[in-house]
Amino acid sequence: MIKKGIILAGGHGTRMSPLTKAVNKQLLPIYDKPLIFYPLSILMLSKIKDILIIVNKGQLHQYKKLLADGKNLGIKLKFIEQNYPKGLPDAFILGEKFIGKENVALILGDNFFYGQNLSEKLQKSKKFKKGAKIFLHKVSKPELYGVAKINNKNKIIGIKEKPKKFYSDYAITGLYYFDNKVTKYAKSLKPSSRNELEITDLLKKYLSNKNLSTEVIGRGGAWLDTGSLEDFYKTSAFVSSVENQQGFKIACLEEISLNNNWIGKKEILSAMKFYGNCNYSKYLKNLISR
Ligand code: DAU
Repeated sequence: MIKKGIILAGGHGTRMSPLTKAVNKQLLPIYDKPLIFYPLSILMLSKIKDILIIVNKGQLHQYKKLLADGKNLGIKLKFIEQNYPKGLPDAFILGEKFIGKENVALILGDNFFYGQNLSEKLQKSKKFKKGAKIFLHKVSKPELYGVAKINNKNKIIGIKEKPKKFYSDYAITGLYYFDNKVTKYAKSLKPSSRNELEITDLLKKYLSNKNLSTEVIGRGGAWLDTGSLEDFYKTSAFVSSVENQQGFKIACLEEISLNNNWIGKKEILSAMKFYGNCNYSKYLKNLISR
């Protein structure tokens, strides 16, 4: 079972400069809300309440201003600063104390997931005991991601980080479940040629111990990595068209919390006061006046 989750929300967002010079990428808008709402919503849909957010040194106050300690969302938020982007596995070294003796989920702050039955799938996969689990999604440009080769029984047979030559078109998405060995493994990694600890090297440790399983997010689900400016606009357009067509919001944190019975009317009213007179608040008002 996984009760704790980490969101890795640092990084310099260099590809999106000058937008990211003063504001962290994960605080920039994907349509009508900050990017960080989307990965946070995924952990909340998985019913994970105990969450550590890793941010860049010097940017803590920006995140706290937006999310505080999570009490109003019925969750417990902690923050840690990362001095510089050492690589994704650094999350487990920085988060060692937070993880304690538990298993842990990691989600990258710039990843967007959407699809029918997604929360059911996440809640089911959460019940794992040992090893690590990754979520794969077919992509047309595999060279941009970590990829996994799978056999016809969906068993992983190999992993590569951003392969220049075609290896597999199943991208390893930025949502990972790990058992408690993850910190020990992360500490044993050596930086790659781009001078970062690589998540794929960490996954290879589990793979060589035959302890890496996978779940494929099929074509009914959407996964977008919002690493570049173009992806940012594409994801915003996606959210805008779904929200305006259906009238439901994607990643409305208070709505998820209300549905999980973690908060009630009182917290919704206080959230409306906090956000002020905006469409998001109007949406919240509708939630409690139905
Ligand atoms: O999005 C999925 C991909 O994410 C995987 O397929 C790759 O295997 C994995 O290496 C990663 O690739 P990216 O090149 O997209 O990772 P990026 O450096 O963009 O970092 C992802 C997020 O994590 C981003 O929001 C910044 C944050 N980050 C990154 C690093 C390296 C940190 O907060 N700290 C870090 O040290």
